[in-house]
Amino acid sequence: MDQNPTPSFPANAFRRQDETPDAAFYQSPRFVAHIDEGAIAAVTQLYREFFPKDGELLDLMSSWISHLPPEVPYRRVVGLGMNEAELKANPRLARFVVQDLNQNPTLPFADNEFDGAAICVSIDYLTQPVAVLRELARVLRPEAPLVITFSNRCFPSKAIAAWHALDDRGHLALVRQFLLAAGGWHGIELLDRSPNPRRSDPLFAVVGRVEKEASS
Ligand SMILES: C[S@@+](CC[C@H](N)C(=O)[O-])C[C@H]1O[C@@H](n2cnc3c(N)ncnc32)[C@H](O)[C@@H]1O
Repeated sequence: MDQNPTPSFPANAFRRQDETPDAAFYQSPRFVAHIDEGAIAAVTQLYREFFPKDGELLDLMSSWISHLPPEVPYRRVVGLGMNEAELKANPRLARFVVQDLNQNPTLPFADNEFDGAAICVSIDYLTQPVAVLRELARVLRPEAPLVITFSNRCFPSKAIAAWHALDDRGHLALVRQFLLAAGGWHGIELLDRSPNPRRSDPLFAVVGRVEKEASS
């Protein structure tokens, strides 16, 4: 028997209560923090640990805050999200792209363009997460880290059905399955970085590294 089959998902795992185009939902900017201070600090600490100083980073599903460590310089941070005003207000972004990944999961970046990528409190809104993660493996350099973080809150009408069906542990396992299905990822770690579960929003992370040959 195959011990490591490529996971597949039933189509209705990706249905959402609100299946109207995401552009309408994200039309107005939301200058809010989607997780509390403690959880944000946990995200920032992960970035400190995984993203190389002076690297080129991609903040996917970005808004007006990227949670990057303020003391660490990066050569270039590029954001992709749905709301132009939010992205324009993000002081860490050198460049941004407005793109609906549920309509077009192809990333508008070159192969091997980035040294790291982040998806913060947003993976649950992707209806084609496997296609997006496959694209991320293409645009990241060999061994570059992808840090996917999430808490226990969401916009319920826009989160996929599979997310609603699972608890925190299930979410970690699901995101790992997305990476396995995409292929091109290794060293996948499932982390609980909740600062203090009783006082702060919990914070979970799935981290993977790109597995591919360095191009000459
Ligand atoms: C809960 S917010 C998180 C924003 C930011 N990552 C943060 O940590 O504050 C969800 C983000 O996902 C982005 N997003 C949602 N649906 C998307 C889609 N279909 N394509 C691209 N980005 C999307 C939105 O623009 C929004 O910025």
